[in-house]
Amino acid sequence: MDARQMKIKAAEAALDYVEDGMRLGIGTGSTAEEFVRLLAEKVAAGFRIQGVPTSERTARLCLELGVPLKSLDELPELDLTVDGADEVDRRLRLIKGGGGALLREKIVAAASARMVVIADESKVVDVLGAFKLPIEVNPFGQIATLIAIEKAASRLGLAGDITLRTSGDGPFMTDGGHLILDASFGRIPDAEALAADLNAIPGVVEHGLFIGMASLAIIAGPEGARVLMAA
Ligand code: 5RP
Repeated sequence: MDARQMKIKAAEAALDYVEDGMRLGIGTGSTAEEFVRLLAEKVAAGFRIQGVPTSERTARLCLELGVPLKSLDELPELDLTVDGADEVDRRLRLIKGGGGALLREKIVAAASARMVVIADESKVVDVLGAFKLPIEVNPFGQIATLIAIEKAASRLGLAGDITLRTSGDGPFMTDGGHLILDASFGRIPDAEALAADLNAIPGVVEHGLFIGMASLAIIAGPEGARVLMAA
């Protein structure tokens, strides 16, 4: 089974959690896109959902495939969000934001009664942090914010390059008009402490640590999909 087939397996299994009539948060990324494609087939067959996309990219795909969309302001309380992740640990703590949609993903997940994560085995880790932690920052004072992040990380014994994400010739801009700093901390033993310290920095809009948000994760491997519940 190749990587794409594993993503499809995870996405297929997630459909079991989607019920007719649900208000559904729809994630961003290549795994979430497989979910959108399968969801669109069910919608075409008469299944009714109302989707809230977590990015402009996901919104475009949903519109193209006929998945009905609402804004989060129209549907501020959701039944379920299905989204991918860059890393998942055994307590279902996540790193997200590889696709640059972490702010809307977190807002949508927080507005949902449940969050189901879909991923392949390569995303499961013992300790978060091998994947560079995306940190969304306001463009104003980005250097001051970067220094404040370095200092906060250092107080927790963390160090590593923090780089501005680029796209083409310029900086990558999020749907909200912010920048992304990718932090190579390597290992994040105390994700809760880092999350709290990052949240305390004024220029940090949001970070990619999703803690206590996922209800379960569907992890697809060569043998099929398994469900991971928080340990
Ligand atoms: C986007 C995300 C994605 O969910 C994450 O990057 C996983 O993407 P993929 O399914 O393509 O590996 O957080 O901001």
